[in-house]
Amino acid sequence: MRRRQTASSPPEQMEKAVGKNQRTRLCFLVSLSALFWFLLFYFHFVVLKSGTVDQSVKLQPVPVQTESAKAQAKARRAPESYPFVRALRTIENKSDPCGGRYIYVHDLPPRFNEDMLKECRSLSLWTNMCKFTTNDGLGPPLENVQGVFSNTGWYATNQFAVDVIFSNRMKQYECLTNDSSIAAAIFVPFYAGFDISRYLWGYNISVRDAASLDLVDWLVKRPEWKVMGGKDHFLVAGRITWDFRRLTDEETDWGNKLLFLPAAKNMSMLVVESSPWNANDFGIPYPTYFHPAKDNDVFIWQDRMRKLDRPWLFSFAGAPRPGNLKSIRGQIIEQCKKSKVCKLLECDFGESKCHSPSSIMQMFQSSLFCLQPQGDSYTRRSAFDSILAGKNHEGGGYKSHPEVDICRSSVKIGDS
Ligand SMILES: *[C@@H]1O[C@H](CO)[C@@H](O)[C@H](O)[C@H]1NC(C)=O
Ligand SMILES: *[C@@H]1O[C@H](CO)[C@@H](O)[C@H](O)[C@H]1NC(C)=O
Ligand SMILES: *[C@@H]1O[C@H](CO)[C@@H](O)[C@H](O)[C@H]1NC(C)=O
Ligand SMILES: *[C@@H]1O[C@H](CO)[C@@H](O)[C@H](O)[C@H]1NC(C)=O
Repeated sequence: MRRRQTASSPPEQMEKAVGKNQRTRLCFLVSLSALFWFLLFYFHFVVLKSGTVDQSVKLQPVPVQTESAKAQAKARRAPESYPFVRALRTIENKSDPCGGRYIYVHDLPPRFNEDMLKECRSLSLWTNMCKFTTNDGLGPPLENVQGVFSNTGWYATNQFAVDVIFSNRMKQYECLTNDSSIAAAIFVPFYAGFDISRYLWGYNISVRDAASLDLVDWLVKRPEWKVMGGKDHFLVAGRITWDFRRLTDEETDWGNKLLFLPAAKNMSMLVVESSPWNANDFGIPYPTYFHPAKDNDVFIWQDRMRKLDRPWLFSFAGAPRPGNLKSIRGQIIEQCKKSKVCKLLECDFGESKCHSPSSIMQMFQSSLFCLQPQGDSYTRRSAFDSILAGKNHEGGGYKSHPEVDICRSSVKIGDS
């Protein structure tokens, strides 16, 4: 405010204002340094002098805020009062291999997960998901007919199957507990991605929001919720964050409002594309076709990919986006068709070659650069398939928007 005022004043007034500003700044600095010395002495005499800080106090999670000293004193008086203290104590127990890693899984009513699988035909408007929800979400095993996969560990995995893959994988986690008070985190096995994908097209907002509202209503009544207001809760969804972030209650707006519900804001959500402007979601990769059982399966695969002969310089699998003026897909397809060093796999809706895992993997394995221009969202499942085919991913992370990904080394061109 003050800055804007000064900027619009005539020069002499401005000088006065600057002088005044300097005086205020000086006062501010003096009081800041006084505060600093006060705190230094306070810690020296009050905290350090009290000497023996016992183990339990050392491990107290003290909020690092302005009231920190007060909170510390309070925590010392009543060490058991902090809700997370039992979960933290498990870390100290050296004979417990799960110390600090326990996870409690909410036993949700089946309408939030299993029942959706029974309706697998209606989970997506374009794809019958029934085949893809088999095998704990990995889909049917892929036969290595063309020799582009390994003999085991390859499945026809759908890109949106993360909901069911993760919750089934969680059932095998070695540190599950039924005692939520020792759990480091609480998992909510809600199939949020499947829930919204059934209603994204042609349903009104009350239908789209129904399961999310039902879920938070169920969760906030649980004793596990009250401990930390849901801040230790997390859920996982195989769709992009924008499907859960409808900004208004206009019928024409996209998606549901799960991630804008007050309860969901306290939880963490793992999604295949996160939002750069919100702190309650985290990006995870799309699933690929490869689900190795052991580390060694990965090393063998990497070794094989490094030794491949790659006859094509570029390759691209995808469809043009004629409706999107910013899309460079049409250009890429046109130039690729003209080029002798580019391999193209044209996609359209339905069972084209572009949806055949072996055609895709074969193409990526035989090219040096795999172009990944933005499609419906920034992140493409195909980018992860191409990583699998030998792309060395150098940093970047899943929050980035890979415009052009490369099979052998990572270069990014543009960002829109
Ligand atoms: C430490 O962990 C072991 C193994 O899980 C368990 O049997 C024991 O009760 C734990 N001790 C304490 C003090 O919690
Ligand atoms: C939790 O309780 C359920 C049902 O009582 C039981 O089947 C399951 O094995 C228990 N899990 C653990 C980790 O103790
Ligand atoms: C939304 O759609 C459902 C069924 O499709 C219908 O029962 C309901 O009345 C609609 N709600 C509104 C507010 O239009
Ligand atoms: C979210 O967390 C805050 C602070 O911990 C708490 O006050 C609030 O009640 C929580 N929200 C819900 C819906 O539980």
